[in-house]
Amino acid sequence: MSKRILILGGAGFIGSHLVDNLSKNGNEVKVIDNFSTGKIENLSQTKNKVKITKGDLRFLDFVLKNVKDVDLVFHLVANYSVKLSSEDPIFDFNSNALTTLNVLEAMRKNDIPIIIFTSSSTVYGESDKFPIPENTKLKPISNYGASKVSAEMYIHSFSQLYGIKGLILRYANIIGPRSEHGIIPDFVKKLKEHRKRLLILGDGKQKKSYLYVSDCIDASLLALEHFNKSFDVFNVGSEEWITVDEIAKIVCEEMGLTNVKFEYTGGDRGWLGDVSKFLLDIKKLKRLGWEPKYTIEESIRKTVEWLKNH
Ligand SMILES: NC(=O)c1ccc[n+]([C@@H]2O[C@H](COP(=O)([O-])OP(=O)(O)OC[C@H]3O[C@@H](n4cnc5c(N)ncnc54)[C@H](O)[C@@H]3O)[C@@H](O)[C@H]2O)c1
Repeated sequence: MSKRILILGGAGFIGSHLVDNLSKNGNEVKVIDNFSTGKIENLSQTKNKVKITKGDLRFLDFVLKNVKDVDLVFHLVANYSVKLSSEDPIFDFNSNALTTLNVLEAMRKNDIPIIIFTSSSTVYGESDKFPIPENTKLKPISNYGASKVSAEMYIHSFSQLYGIKGLILRYANIIGPRSEHGIIPDFVKKLKEHRKRLLILGDGKQKKSYLYVSDCIDASLLALEHFNKSFDVFNVGSEEWITVDEIAKIVCEEMGLTNVKFEYTGGDRGWLGDVSKFLLDIKKLKRLGWEPKYTIEESIRKTVEWLKNH
C-alpha cells in the first residue's frame, strides 16, 4: 500500500538511497534537509518525484510547521562525525538529540504515528563480548553515542506516553556510493593526493564491522515491514569484521597502487571516543529472513570503485 513518507536528512548518504528506494513504489515521498552535508546531486534521480524542503530541524518552529501530513517519518538527521562530538558536544547534542525531540513534538501535535530512527553501534560503547546483541547495557564512550541514546530514550518515552511507535535501527559502519565520511573516503582522498604513502589513524589494528548501503536499506525496510510493537530495536550490520590495516590493503589494491608505505598516528583508537572493536549481533534481523548480499571485501571494493570517479 502506498504511503506518505517524510525522510529527514534525505539528501545525505544513506537518506538519499532510502529516497531512491521508497519513491519507486507509488509512495508520496518528502525530504527535509539543511544541506549541511547533504547534496542536491544525491537526489538527482528522484528530485522530480519528491518534495524537497530546505530547513534545520534544530528549530522547533520550523519543525512544527513542516513535519506534518505524513504517515511515517524516517529520522536520519545527525551530526556527521563522532570525532566532532568531542570537540563540540553542544552541536552534537542539538543535531542528534534536540532534532529528535523537536520531531517527536511535531509528531505528537500533528498526529503522525510512526518514527524510524537511525541510531548507531556507538550506543554500546566498548564491549568485551562479541557479537553485541540489542539487549546489551548501553555505555557509550563518545558524546555522539550518548546523544543517540538520549534520542532513543525520548522515542521510547513518546511511545509510552503518546502512542507514537518507534523503530530504532542501530547501524554498523555503512559504506557505498555517495558516502563522504569515514575510513574509505578518507583513504581514497589521501591516496589520490599521495600515491606512495598513507597516514592511518591509530595503530591499524582497530577491528570493526561494515555493511553495504543497499544491504542497509533492504534490512531497514524489512524491519519496518515486520514492525508491530510500540517500540523495537534492531542491530543492522554484518557477521564479518575487518581491521583497518586490511581495509588499507584492499583500498590500495582496488586503486591499482603498489608499495604504499603505511604510516600510523599511533594509539589503539583513531580519535577520541572511537570504539576500536565492534561486531553487532544481527540474529534478530536474520530471523526475518534477511542477510547481507555483499561481503565486507566486496562492499569496500564497490565503494572505492565509486569514489575513484567522484
Ligand atoms: N554512515 C554510517 O556509517 C552510519 C553509521 C551508523 C549510523 N548512521 C546514522 O545514519 C544516519 C544517516 O547518516 P549518513 O551517513 O547518511 O549521514 P549524512 O551526513 O550523509 O546525512 C545526514 C543528513 O542530515 C542533514 N542534516 C544534518 N543536520 C541537520 C539539521 N540540523 N537539520 C536538517 N538536516 C540536517 C545533512 O545535510 C545530511 O543530508 C545518521 O543518523 C547517522 O547517525 C550512519
